[in-house]
Amino acid sequence: MNLTLKIWRQKDANAKGELKSYPVKDISPEMSFLEMLDVLNEQLVAKGEDAVAFDHDCREGICGMCSLMINGQAHGPDKAATTCQLHMRRYKDGDTIVIEPFRAKAFPVVRDLCVDRGAFDRIQQAGGFCSVNTGNAPDANDILISHGVAEKAMDAAACIGCGACVAACPNASAMLFVGAKVSQYALLPQGQPEREKRALAMRAQMDAEGFGHCTNEYECEAACPKEIKISNIARLNREYLRASIVSD
Ligand code: SF4
Ligand code: FES
Repeated sequence: MNLTLKIWRQKDANAKGELKSYPVKDISPEMSFLEMLDVLNEQLVAKGEDAVAFDHDCREGICGMCSLMINGQAHGPDKAATTCQLHMRRYKDGDTIVIEPFRAKAFPVVRDLCVDRGAFDRIQQAGGFCSVNTGNAPDANDILISHGVAEKAMDAAACIGCGACVAACPNASAMLFVGAKVSQYALLPQGQPEREKRALAMRAQMDAEGFGHCTNEYECEAACPKEIKISNIARLNREYLRASIVSD
């Protein structure tokens, strides 16, 4: 396939960015989207031009590093898939593909297609952990957790912190991410000792980072590669309300 790529180029955080057109030739339908960008970068470097900077690590849908807006969709057109899981068989010869970074005030562009998602780390650091001393690992059946609860907690814990929910939301809200992180602890006995403190601290950090509010657009759930459900946002709201009352 021969394609035209329109890629956001921006030298650094303070530079003015712009979309630039690049032709790429002989792209195999079996290539992943990131392999196709590797081919482009090899061509650019061979010509003495700067390679396009983009985030990636595992390339298996696990780490949450890849983060492209592809033709206006966070992680591209495939459902329940990250950018690194997208393959070129989704496109046809002659297509033009527009590739931009995830856009949100709280995710400033670092260079080209890379954004700083440190805001998510700071939200996690505010309360997304259990600091109680649990001693040695207990036997598996010491703390009984029903199957349904374990499944819900595991579903919430599947969040890989990629930020697609923020990029897809017209308000750049981080409620789906924070909802997943609060839920995975709120559902389990291990999360109870710091339950209120966690909900208040993570919510406060989310607001301090400049993310917008949820207005039930459902775009986050549609874009999420791990199919995190918006019921986690409802749980976050309940946890926050409960914590506000209990902690007063
Ligand atoms: S909720 Fe989904 S889209 Fe948002 S950070 Fe987690 S995995 Fe990514
Ligand atoms: S590179 Fe790790 S999830 Fe895409």
